[in-house]
Amino acid sequence: MFDLNGKVALVTGASSGIGRQQSLALAQAGAAVVLLGRRKEQLASAVADIEAFGGKAVSLSVDLSDREQLAKIAKLAVDQFGSIDILINAAGVNFREPVDEISLDSWDKTLNLNLAVPFFLAREFIAGMKSRSWGRIINIASLQSSRAFANGLPYGASKGGIAQLTRAMAEAWSVSGINCNAIAPGFFPTGLTAPVYQNPEMLDNFARQTAIGRNGELEDLDGVTVFLASPASNYLTGQVIHLDGGFTAK
Ligand SMILES: NC(=O)c1ccc[n+]([C@@H]2O[C@H](COP(=O)([O-])OP(=O)(O)OC[C@H]3O[C@@H](n4cnc5c(N)ncnc54)[C@H](OP(=O)(O)O)[C@@H]3O)[C@@H](O)[C@H]2O)c1
Repeated sequence: MFDLNGKVALVTGASSGIGRQQSLALAQAGAAVVLLGRRKEQLASAVADIEAFGGKAVSLSVDLSDREQLAKIAKLAVDQFGSIDILINAAGVNFREPVDEISLDSWDKTLNLNLAVPFFLAREFIAGMKSRSWGRIINIASLQSSRAFANGLPYGASKGGIAQLTRAMAEAWSVSGINCNAIAPGFFPTGLTAPVYQNPEMLDNFARQTAIGRNGELEDLDGVTVFLASPASNYLTGQVIHLDGGFTAK
């Protein structure tokens, strides 16, 4: 039920943090994984970690922010192992600007990478997934899909959008066997949350806000990632799963 042998996954944001962890989890479950990011050394290290346990992986160093290049990038990804069956849209940015300092440029960069790219990249793989009557798209939402945090206005707007994009993708594509869901993580230690992790008091407050009593560890992502990527989630689509230790339940 959770076996991914014979499936090919593309993970964006795979050079670090959440996307890297998810790439390893998919490879452990048997998928061949195409890891995408810009930083070559970090990508090579993730591929080496996968190969070390006998998994199959390659990396593509590309910048996703140029939407005109997405068709070319998608073709390159398909060429690696012959198809893309599972897409995880984990690439993202958060510039953490106070509301009065948000520039048009940072707004555009955030909304583009966090919201537009997941849709336009996914659309490139739909014909292939339809031809096999099977596909999985996993977006990465956030606590900010449903809650407002200081200094995160464009980020929150993009993540609120991701929650609705996930439902709209399901409406459009799940009739063809392509399930589209999102994972909304709580606080996990990555480059993106480094400013939070440098503030022990804030971090502690966030941990106390969860029902479980701690913030996330990267390994907490493995189960839900494999579940959403595998036949185990055959009848699940259009959902945002809050992987937050109960933060949004309290
Ligand atoms: N950490 C958390 O607690 C948390 C909570 C909720 C949601 N999230 C979401 O999780 C996702 C992953 O973030 P993270 O926390 O793992 O942070 P991260 O370690 O900073 O990862 C961000 C990833 O995005 C990639 N990226 C950024 N700009 C790119 C571009 N122009 N082209 C291609 N790739 C690009 C980065 O790769 P390169 O720099 O190599 O290009 C990196 O792999 C994001 O969508 C974030 O919003 C994180």
